[in-house]
Amino acid sequence: MMRIGMLTSGGDCQALNAAMRGVVKCIANSGEEVEFYGFLNGYKGLIYSDFRMLTSRDFSGILTKGGTILGSSRTPFKTIKDPDENGLDKVEAMKQNYYKLKLDCLVVLGGNGSQKTANLLSEEGLNIVSLPKTIDNDLWGTDMTFGFQSAVDIATGVIDNIHTTADSHGRVFIIEVMGHKVGWLTLNAGIAGGADVVLIPEIPYDIDKVCNAIRARDEHGSRFTIIAVAEGAISKKDAKLSKKEYKEKVANRKYPSVSYEIAEAIQKKTGHEVRVTVPGHMQRGGAPDPYDRVFASRLGAEAGWLVLKRQYGYMVAYKNREIVKVPLKDIAGKLKSVSPDAGIIKEAKALGVCFGD
Ligand code: F6P
Repeated sequence: MMRIGMLTSGGDCQALNAAMRGVVKCIANSGEEVEFYGFLNGYKGLIYSDFRMLTSRDFSGILTKGGTILGSSRTPFKTIKDPDENGLDKVEAMKQNYYKLKLDCLVVLGGNGSQKTANLLSEEGLNIVSLPKTIDNDLWGTDMTFGFQSAVDIATGVIDNIHTTADSHGRVFIIEVMGHKVGWLTLNAGIAGGADVVLIPEIPYDIDKVCNAIRARDEHGSRFTIIAVAEGAISKKDAKLSKKEYKEKVANRKYPSVSYEIAEAIQKKTGHEVRVTVPGHMQRGGAPDPYDRVFASRLGAEAGWLVLKRQYGYMVAYKNREIVKVPLKDIAGKLKSVSPDAGIIKEAKALGVCFGD
């Protein structure tokens, strides 16, 4: 009898349920006798032994369901080795709970921080298989994470809708897109939505170049300008600050995010009326799109095979259009950002997209 634990950790995204369903179906259909234990609310469930046994009924009808049936939470890697408020050693507690349940393996669905903790547990001797989850697509070792395409769909839909109202009112519109420290989501939604300006953290912007792009559109007779701004976008000036100075600047910002700063500067410099739209967590919500349903199901089945073959210490990944396994130790803690020299940037520039550089 195999005993398999499973948890979803970090910010949720579309297709978490589809991925878990893939793992469970693959293993259950293999004929292996198996029990599944679902830890609730991410690593917290493993730390505090909060779990429930899962049956095939739990996985029925969840392919299209957004969120995660197990719940999620953020358990920052930075403090994972620190005791909790009651002095509990969290890493030791996770190991003990794993051993108490006599688990053969723990399946972790998570983003960057969660993969780091997965690797730590693997180094501590637990059998781990992980899956790459996040709308940010910032996980090293995989060309794509599940959740990303669904979020691109939603952010693109927002940009599409904004076009008509921007045109009616002759306004400059900023759409702030999620993505944490990287620009994958903004770049893809920006191109898909036909944004005129795309600002991403990997390419610090010069506000005067952005204003020039708006003026060029004015001269060309365009009534509006659409700007897709990544939540982590940074100006050339701010990029020169030390980490500490930038943190202080952000903490003292009069606005909730960089988009409003950009809006104010554009309004002052060009005289245009500027509006900001922030779709926020909508980008992580709702049903996965068909691409993510297929992708997460495939990753789930491949993760299931790793478990069945007792091949542990890996994350399933997508490389060069194939699903492969990558050692957790090789990917944990590494961020995959957009290269300013990437083909997609050059192609977008050829299409007339301004990056403000
Ligand atoms: O990592 C996914 C993500 O949605 C990021 O794009 C965003 O910066 C962050 O999570 C938001 O986190 P929270 O849900 O904790 O506000």
